[in-house]
Amino acid sequence: MNMKRLFISLAIITIFSLFFVSCYYDNEEALYPTLSSACDTNNVTFSITIVTILNNNCYSCHSNTTAASQGNNIALQNYTDVVAQSAQITTSVKHTGSISPMPKNGGSISACSITQLDIWVRKGMLNN
Ligand code: HEC
Repeated sequence: MNMKRLFISLAIITIFSLFFVSCYYDNEEALYPTLSSACDTNNVTFSITIVTILNNNCYSCHSNTTAASQGNNIALQNYTDVVAQSAQITTSVKHTGSISPMPKNGGSISACSITQLDIWVRKGMLNN
């Protein structure tokens, strides 16, 4: 093999390697488009993950004590209440227009929080 052929072979191998590396990153981005690597999608629990999201963004209007005056009587504090409202909760935070966008008069909760709510619902809404 002369030097020219060796060089061309190495160039082809390099180009193919780069191609596969970029495909790998493409797939990662397709899976979790806007999530930072700090978003924990593995350990999603009701008592910690979900209650923290609701506490930080929703309980000013939807706790057991604020629901009547601020939250249209929709309390999202007890586990059974959250389960009963789960479909509306996950839709309302996505601001799709089909349901009143939440948090009301606020911005959006983070993409990580939206994903964690979806994961909790998809995994069967465990009381964990
Ligand atoms: C500033 C008060 C306020 C905050 C904060 C708030 N909500 Fe609401 N929410 C309301 C009010 C008031 C309604 C009644 C509908 C309306 O006025 O848009 C409502 C309605 C809802 C509904 C029923 C929507 C429907 O059309 O059936 C859901 C589900 C809901 N909120 C979930 C949430 C979640 C989840 C959060 C936190 C991410 C949140 N809300 C934060 C005030 C609030």
